[in-house]
Amino acid sequence: MTDLNDHLSIIVVGASGHLARTKVLPALFALFCQGFLPRHFRILGYARTPLSDDDFRRTVEENLTCRYTPQESCAERMGEFLARCTYRGGQYDSAADLRALGPALAEAHDGQPDNRVLYLAVPPHVFLPVARALGDAGLAQAPTPDTWCRVVIEKPFGRDRESSTLLTRDMETVFSEEQIYRIDHYLGKEVIQNLLVLRFANAMFEPIWNRHYIQSVQITWKENVGIEGRGGYFDETGIIRDVMQNHLLQILSLVAMEPPPRLDATHIRNAKVNALMCVPPLTPDNLVLGQYVATNRGGLSIPGYRDDPSVAPDSRTATYAAAALHVVNARWDGVPFLLRSGKGLDGRLSEIRIQFRPVPGRMYVLPNGAPNELVIRIQPDEAINFRIWSKVPGLETQLELRDLDLQYKTAFSQLIPDAYEDLLLDVLRGEKSLFIRGDELAAAWDIVTPVLHDIDQNQREPTTYEFGTRGPASADELAARYGVLWHLQ
Ligand code: BG6
Repeated sequence: MTDLNDHLSIIVVGASGHLARTKVLPALFALFCQGFLPRHFRILGYARTPLSDDDFRRTVEENLTCRYTPQESCAERMGEFLARCTYRGGQYDSAADLRALGPALAEAHDGQPDNRVLYLAVPPHVFLPVARALGDAGLAQAPTPDTWCRVVIEKPFGRDRESSTLLTRDMETVFSEEQIYRIDHYLGKEVIQNLLVLRFANAMFEPIWNRHYIQSVQITWKENVGIEGRGGYFDETGIIRDVMQNHLLQILSLVAMEPPPRLDATHIRNAKVNALMCVPPLTPDNLVLGQYVATNRGGLSIPGYRDDPSVAPDSRTATYAAAALHVVNARWDGVPFLLRSGKGLDGRLSEIRIQFRPVPGRMYVLPNGAPNELVIRIQPDEAINFRIWSKVPGLETQLELRDLDLQYKTAFSQLIPDAYEDLLLDVLRGEKSLFIRGDELAAAWDIVTPVLHDIDQNQREPTTYEFGTRGPASADELAARYGVLWHLQ
């Protein structure tokens, strides 16, 4: 836990980039406004772009919001925050350039020892050179009884199991596993954090949370925007590495895990690793790949993936993937977990849809036989709905599916924090439940690595789908093979 009297330095490497400007620095401001940053904190931006302190402050300010501060005092709070932000330019892999930060920090803290967060908001191929340069520059200080030093990195961690293991091993030459905080920002989302509460604080779910009552689990992630010039990263990565290996498998592990003996980082993450280890590797016949193509909307033409100037014109990179997985253990044997993720689709949605088995004996004839469902909507419009059959009021017995509906917007008056606010606060507190442990990462890579190699070796072509649609029809056929009708959402 950080004492409010401690000295804290936050070094953001890649500070002029999109992630730092739009997520990390605004989240730090939100923590500052809520009194979570210690009195003596400094933010030191570092990146290749040459910027003066004032230029840097201007770029930071553009993305700060007054969510937690009344409008009249917000400008003052921003001024106080920005006064603690400074910037140095330099090469990512240059220990000599980074070394200049040491004296600047010592001066800023009047020589007092500081706790340190090193945030690596940089492209994945420079994680290691940056980590080494920070180490060589003496900035990755070893923890002492009074101070700590933590490094935060963002996915993707490696490209497959082997490269990820190598990265983990090499990072450990500079930082111990204890010091490394691997972010999957989905774990910081409010509804995802509510999953464990839903499962383990309510008496009715645990008894039915198994193969006897649940017939399928669907996890959907979709965006209605395309790549829009960000192909430099995505074309190398593809949707499986970008979203499925991390965000979707993390959600799967939280749905599938056994109750941990205690709700602490070690036991929660043990339970997640155990669940992931019960998932056999994804096979090519259980995977549908897609890539969006151009479309025309009301006279407006929307370019396809390959038309994007940042994408290779013959790219085979998938922008859509649907997968059928199983968790082979006593709780879940035989229950399909259907995952789909895609860009350039017909809407923006992240949700978990748990479909229950029909009532034994089938006393009622249910119109279209639809099952009970528990729908957990992560975004937009956070909600938890239990879809139950109900009698429509009237003299006839007519049944309809209706929602027991917990809509966050109406049920709670509190603001929903951005995932990065939660995660950064946990970094300061040394709370690791919401960060990916090394063995958890390895278990997730084990599930998708064989199929990723198969795609590369066989140069598998994704099926095309028109921008703004539901994605390839073959995904529906995959779901149908497991007796599941994808929800139309
Ligand atoms: C990131 C992916 O991890 O998550 C992006 O790299 C994706 O491709 C983003 O757009 C989506 O995040 P969110 O929170 O908007 O669903």
